Amino acid sequence: MRVQDCASAQLGNQQFMTISAEDFKQGMRRLGGAVNIVTAANEGVWAGLTATAVTSLSAEPPRLLACVNRQGATYDTISRGRKLAVNVLGVHHKDLAMRFAGMNGEPEDERFDGGDWSADTGCAPVLKDALVSFACDVENIMDVGSHGIVIGSIRSINVASGNPITPLCYVDGSWAQLTELL
Ligand SMILES: Cc1cc2nc3c(=O)[nH]c(=O)nc-3n(C[C@H](O)[C@H](O)[C@H](O)COP(=O)(O)O)c2cc1C
Repeated sequence: MRVQDCASAQLGNQQFMTISAEDFKQGMRRLGGAVNIVTAANEGVWAGLTATAVTSLSAEPPRLLACVNRQGATYDTISRGRKLAVNVLGVHHKDLAMRFAGMNGEPEDERFDGGDWSADTGCAPVLKDALVSFACDVENIMDVGSHGIVIGSIRSINVASGNPITPLCYVDGSWAQLTELL
């Protein structure tokens, strides 16, 4: 393992050695996460992507955030339509996750041909059998480098019934599932 000594990395007046994109990616491979599909809608057009950079932000008021690449169609649709939904995936959604990450070669405008989706007027698409879906209005977007931090004000929550709860995870470049520690 490569250990970077912060003191030796300091270059003069409070400047730090540049971390390469490759260093960043290698480190982030260890940050395992739950897999979601973030969707957006604008004037009847849907967009969506697979995302692990999603987190709870605040219970009062109910807010979440998602980090979305600014180069893609989903960011564009979120920015214009100001609606998003976070659909938390189960292990049975692996193929869908690959589809919305562009890993299966489908054209981007055919992503929603997979999965069972619904959307109320003025909302982003919700995956009917997601572990849970959060439909949001966009409260704010902060652009930071390549990504936008999208803050969603949660308007409705759809929790799937039934057990066990088996979230789809991604770590070290592989799809994974959780096992209980005894
Ligand atoms: C496991 C996994 C997690 C991902 N997480 C994110 C993420 O949090 N944010 C993001 O912008 N892209 C993420 N991506 C990449 C997008 O899913 C992919 O680039 C997608 O094709 C972008 O679609 P778009 O062009 O509609 O924006 C992830 C991909 C995978 C496989």
